[in-house]
Order: sequence, then structure tokens, then C-alpha cells
Amino acid sequence: MISIAFFNNKGGVGKTSLVYHLSWMFSEMGVKVVAVDLDPQANLSAMFLDEDRLDKLWPDGDHPETVLGAVDPILRGKGDIKSPHVEDITDHLGLVAGDLGLSRFEAKLSEAWPKCVDEDESAFRVVSAFYRVITQAVETRNAQCALIDVGPNLGAINRSAMIAASNVLVPVAADLYSLQGLKNLGPTFREWRKQWMDRIARKPLGLDVELPVGEMRPSGYIILQHAVRLDRPVRAYERWMERIPRTYHTEVLGESATCTLDSTTDPECLALLKHYRSLMPLAQDARKPMFHLKSADGALGAHLSAVQECFRDFRLLANSIAEKCKVPLPSSTLWK
Ligand SMILES: Nc1ncnc2c1ncn2[C@@H]1O[C@H](COP(=O)(O)OP(=O)(O)OP(=O)(O)O)[C@@H](O)[C@H]1O
Ligand SMILES: [Mg+2]
Repeated sequence: MISIAFFNNKGGVGKTSLVYHLSWMFSEMGVKVVAVDLDPQANLSAMFLDEDRLDKLWPDGDHPETVLGAVDPILRGKGDIKSPHVEDITDHLGLVAGDLGLSRFEAKLSEAWPKCVDEDESAFRVVSAFYRVITQAVETRNAQCALIDVGPNLGAINRSAMIAASNVLVPVAADLYSLQGLKNLGPTFREWRKQWMDRIARKPLGLDVELPVGEMRPSGYIILQHAVRLDRPVRAYERWMERIPRTYHTEVLGESATCTLDSTTDPECLALLKHYRSLMPLAQDARKPMFHLKSADGALGAHLSAVQECFRDFRLLANSIAEKCKVPLPSSTLWK
């Protein structure tokens, strides 16, 4: 299964917006996609769904149609995961909706992680719950890939989300905080991967569930310019920008040789996405991707050429991601 997580422990860099726009873009390129909202803030779900639908998904009491509903029996210690509900966005695009209550799963996941070392069968079921929910959602939709959104931290929910991911893409901004975020990511991935390998080696013989391999392969970074403060001098921006390739290669990929590439030549840099300015709020109001905006949505005059440029940017980015993560694309959509 191809499951691509977007992750940086620096908040607000653009993870959720990327998952949303790329889910739409891939689906329009003929790739069947499931978007998975594993951030307890559930911002991705709020981008896809209107308040009436969210109100129905999050009633008082149980939430059978969200990701929390799928892991609920595990959370209560009363069984294994339930088959996840996949919200129909379009024929090619489904959503496993998030849930603000998902934060309650954090403690259960933390508790289960060390218990796997003791060959505890139920601990393996807990830790692999997200992987199995995603696998079932992908199978139900006959999808080619899952795109996963997570919150900005290194907690147990994200560890479980990462071991479920075949690939990890890192959104990054040209600032000190993003570079510090990159420095945390590399060692954390290596530690999680190693700890998971140690645990898989202790899988109890009778355990009849499929476990993830814990690949979480770093597959490139995306520089987002919107996240940079516009009042900062250009020189400060350039200074951080220059350091992104080196920091990514050294800290995330763990390479020993110093990287001399810049973001325009580094094959790990999948895109440099611009600040789309008022397109983003217009898109949020219209509840559609920026590249679908029409004049009726308020995208008038110069906005319309920005919409086309945005479409092209995301199309190229989707192509690069497909190449890196081996997402099968219908040949008709392979243009540069
Ligand atoms: N390319 C862009 N152009 C303009 N605005 C953008 C762009 N990408 C994201 N934004 C805006 O930046 C803000 C943060 O983006 P987003 O919510 O996607 O980040 P995040 O990394 O998911 O945040 P968090 O860590 O809180 O989950 C949002 O208001 C979003 O609309
Ligand atoms: Mg987010």
C-alpha cells in the first residue's frame, strides 16, 4: 500500500493544505485516493466537509463514521478496529474523517508501545490500528494511495501514523523554526523505525493481523513560502532557504557528506510553492481547492491567471510525488 504522510513537527507550515489540494489533484489525474485525517484538530475534515455534515459526524455520544469510531473498540478495550467509514467526496476521492476526540487515543498508544516488547498481542493491535484502518479504507475504495495529515508534534498518535506510512513528505518554510523541525525529524524517524523493527521481531505467533513494515521513507521536501513572515528582510529569507537542502540531507536522510545542492538543483526538493494570497481564503469560503476557483467564487481578473498557475504548480508537484513514491499515474496525465 502506498500511504504518504505529510509531516514536520513545526506547526502551520502547510501540511493540511497540501494534503487537501494534492488529494484533489491526484483524484483528477485518475488516481483513486483516500485522504486520512489523523490530526485531532481535524482541520482537513473541516476543509472537505461543511458544518452540517461535520455536526452529523460528531454528534453527542459515539462517532461511528470518523476515525475515532473505527478505533473505538480498541480504545475501550472491547475488541479490534471496526471497518472505517469512508466519506464520498467524489468517485475518485474518499475521506476518513478526523475527530477532535482522537486525542483520547494518545494515552492508549503510549501505553501500548513498550508493551509490544513484551510480546503483548493486544498492544500490537493498538499500535497497528491506524495502519489497518488505512489499509481497509484503501481496499474499500479500491484506491491507489492514501494521503495522511497529522498534527505538528512527535507524540504517540504521530508515531503510529508514521509507522503506517510508506513515504513521508516534509513541508518546510525558510525560517529558523522549520529548520529546527527538520533537525528533530531525522533522529525521530530513525528511532521510531528501529524501535518498530525491534517490536515486529517480537510479534506473537498467534497474532492474526497484518502489521506495517514501518518504512516511513523520507521522500522529499516542499518549500512553502506563505509561512514566511513577509516583513522579514530578503537576506534573512535567503539565509534560511540556503540551509534547507543541507539540513534535509544531513538531518533527515542521515547523509554524512555535506550537500552542496540548492533548492533548484536538489532532487529532494519537490516544489517551491508560492504564497497564493487571496486565493486561499476564497477557496476556503467556496470549500474547494484553489485551482477550482471560478469567477462566481470571486476569482476575478488577475485571480484567474493565478488559479491557472496554481493548477500547474500542483499538477507538477503531484507528478514529482508520484515519481518519488511510485504512485501509478494513468499515462495520459504524465505531462510536465
Ligand atoms: N500556499 C499557500 N498560500 C497561502 N496560504 C497558505 C498556503 N498554504 C497554507 N496556507 C495557509 O497557511 C495556514 C497554515 O496552513 P495549514 O493549516 O495547511 O498548515 P499545517 O501545517 O497543517 O498547520 P498545523 O501544524 O496547525 O496542522 C492556513 O491558514 C492556510 O490557509
Ligand atoms: Mg494541519
